[in-house]
Amino acid sequence: MSFAFFNGKYMPLDEVAISPFDRGFLFGDSIYEVIPVYGGKMLEGELHLQRLLNGLSAVGIESPYSLIDWRVLITNIIVEAEATQMIYIQVTRGVEESRNHRFPIKVVPSILIFATPFTSPVDLSYPGCSAILQTDKRWQNCHIKATSLLANVMAYRQLYLEGRPQDEALFIRNGCVVEAASSNLFMVKDKVIYTPPIDNILPGITRHIILQIAKKLHYQVYEIAPDPNTLEKADEVWVSNSIEEIKPVIKIDDHCIGSGQPGEVWREFWLHYQSKKWDGYEV
Ligand SMILES: Cc1ncc(COP(=O)(O)O)c(C=O)c1O
Repeated sequence: MSFAFFNGKYMPLDEVAISPFDRGFLFGDSIYEVIPVYGGKMLEGELHLQRLLNGLSAVGIESPYSLIDWRVLITNIIVEAEATQMIYIQVTRGVEESRNHRFPIKVVPSILIFATPFTSPVDLSYPGCSAILQTDKRWQNCHIKATSLLANVMAYRQLYLEGRPQDEALFIRNGCVVEAASSNLFMVKDKVIYTPPIDNILPGITRHIILQIAKKLHYQVYEIAPDPNTLEKADEVWVSNSIEEIKPVIKIDDHCIGSGQPGEVWREFWLHYQSKKWDGYEV
């Protein structure tokens, strides 16, 4: 059984009891973070924790802990025997029994941290996945890692209803493809890398690592969002997040991407990412 930190105490995860009046539960009024841990060490823990603090500040929830305190709390949760695990953190605005929409609200944030083992579904034998294009129906603050994820959930439900639950939904906003339902987007054309700018998408930490790898390997990178036509003509398309890492997309709607197989540039980046996560290789 995984251990958890909940509102100041360590306890088995299944003993965590969340109030029905918690605003995270009632309104999705909360921020979360997912941090991958390899061999007992967080991968870019500082960046994940800073993103958590930025998200809390953006919605006006005061973090009860400094970045250093968060690091200590998490270190106590990491299970040393597990080779790979993910740390899940959620901070809600707190418990407010009148279920009042209006401010001011006198509450203290609820905090949950737990660790669970995970394995990325993607390795060098991964055949690639397909994707569908969808209109982006999310809110205007996608840079905030908020738990109110209903539009993302609806995108996955659509994939499920179409009989392709493992595929990806790529979101179109203002005529450009900006992000996937739980990952950032990359495109490779003629050995040049393109990725949407982080103006209104989640600033992914995996995305950040990929850009560092691109710099190290002297790839040219443009932070622009492709239109669907350009994306479908790419040599390679990838999506990235902390759990699936770097995942090749080989078909979008009815269009095969490149050779219809994971590409060479993906392979090169995937291998560099593995060295970074296990050996702390500096990119
Ligand atoms: C919408 C969205 N974009 C991008 C990402 C990738 O973020 P990261 O690489 O930090 O895991 C996620 C991760 O959950 C996400 O939900």
